[in-house]
Amino acid sequence: MSDTDRGNRLLPVENLRDDIVGIDTVVPVLDGTERRYVFLDNAASTPTFRRVLYWIEEFLPWYSGVHRGTGFKSLLATDAFDRVHDVVGRFVGADLSTSCVVFVRNTTEAINKLSNRFPFAPGDVVITTVMEHHSNDLPWRRYATTVHVGITDDGQLDLGALRRNLAQYKGRVKLVAVSGASNITGLCSPIHDIAEWVHAAGALLFVDAAQLAPHRPITMLDDADPRHIDFLALSAHKMYAPFGTGVLIGPKAFFEQGDPDVVGGGVVDVVTLDKAFWNHPPLKEEAGSPNVVGGIALAAAISVLQGVGMENIQAHEHALLEYCMKRLKGVRGITLYGPTDTLQGKVGVIPFNVDGMHHALVAAIMSTEGAIGVRDGCFCAHPYVKQLLRVTSEQDAQLAGRILAGDKADIPGMVRASLGCYNNEEDVDRLVHMVERIAHREYRGKYVQDTATGAFHPEGFRVHYGRYFSLFEDGEVSLPRGYAESS
Ligand SMILES: Cc1ncc(COP(=O)(O)O)c(C=O)c1O
Repeated sequence: MSDTDRGNRLLPVENLRDDIVGIDTVVPVLDGTERRYVFLDNAASTPTFRRVLYWIEEFLPWYSGVHRGTGFKSLLATDAFDRVHDVVGRFVGADLSTSCVVFVRNTTEAINKLSNRFPFAPGDVVITTVMEHHSNDLPWRRYATTVHVGITDDGQLDLGALRRNLAQYKGRVKLVAVSGASNITGLCSPIHDIAEWVHAAGALLFVDAAQLAPHRPITMLDDADPRHIDFLALSAHKMYAPFGTGVLIGPKAFFEQGDPDVVGGGVVDVVTLDKAFWNHPPLKEEAGSPNVVGGIALAAAISVLQGVGMENIQAHEHALLEYCMKRLKGVRGITLYGPTDTLQGKVGVIPFNVDGMHHALVAAIMSTEGAIGVRDGCFCAHPYVKQLLRVTSEQDAQLAGRILAGDKADIPGMVRASLGCYNNEEDVDRLVHMVERIAHREYRGKYVQDTATGAFHPEGFRVHYGRYFSLFEDGEVSLPRGYAESS
């Protein structure tokens, strides 16, 4: 059912804020007070939907191992876990008659699985891009000649270069691996156009949807459509369900061929002392006891996202991105990376630097004085970040030498603010206000850099985390309260 078909059954996007665990959390700041925490690091991991917790709690009394038990709880849990696969497949518009949804731990594991399982032959080529997260680059390098398509001056994927590479390597290119949205600039690739070019070149398309799935509707399309996506991966912890699952989706026929990459319990139908006969996928690909609770959590999060409607989430986040960029463009003394005017093809990831200041110092001040959670560095996409920063290859080689010698003082990087579906203008105002203060050097603390890590720490600011999280109240793991009292 499309979001519009759901009509007035949709939950208003504004209500999502009430559904976020920890939305009102306060944290200590440098002046000795506590402030409401503004979380703007959703590209790394999102907070949890309350309704995810609700469904996990409802499920836990029924929790049991799946696929092998005969008791009622095991049957119920198996039924639920099997359904979860279909929920995810439908969420990304996969054709469930031909596709298979495989549960793994995260996108990284999904891509590694695909690379382990892909029947590469010597000389085969994978085309990927310099924009990729390392997880969509390093696995390919182990098995195939990996070609990296470059970017344009403003950080967009060079589609002309992609097409030239497809022509140049036609016959040898077996797979093209692109991100649906970048974790650095939020730029989205035209995945269906790319699919058409890739299929015409006789190759298959993998889309890393880790940053796309939480923000935009996805339709993998049916296999007969030349614009369909062959393989796709996503992570639940970026979709408001941080309980250790991710998914790889691809053709059933693909997973039927060859041996599974991880073997053991669950993947086999029959085992003799010298032979093993594999189960059908997805069982064949989910070795060992699966993360059933993580799967339930992902399905519950999808239910919330669909309850609001991915089109509505996209529109809300886009309006917030426009607002944020407009305000940040008015701040003097900062550099924004990637396109700043045409934002249509971008999810809410905003990379910037404060001129003349180390990115790690800016991020430390944001946290310590502004109670704002952002991230800094190269975000597991070193080649892309360094190209955006115009680091030359000589500088890169020198930096690498210093970093490998243990000195990260000058490690290149950016600050990244990233929006989720529950953020609002007040969150953006807090961000912009803090960026302005930092750009005007109106911060109060004295920060010292640890050159071994590159991180900055405020002098004299000590926090006792045990005050906020009681499991480690005294540094050691605590006894449950009742136990401690009676002992
Ligand atoms: C675009 C992209 N791909 C892959 C990953 C890896 O995801 P995970 O850490 O969940 O394996 C990330 C994580 O930030 C990402 O942003």
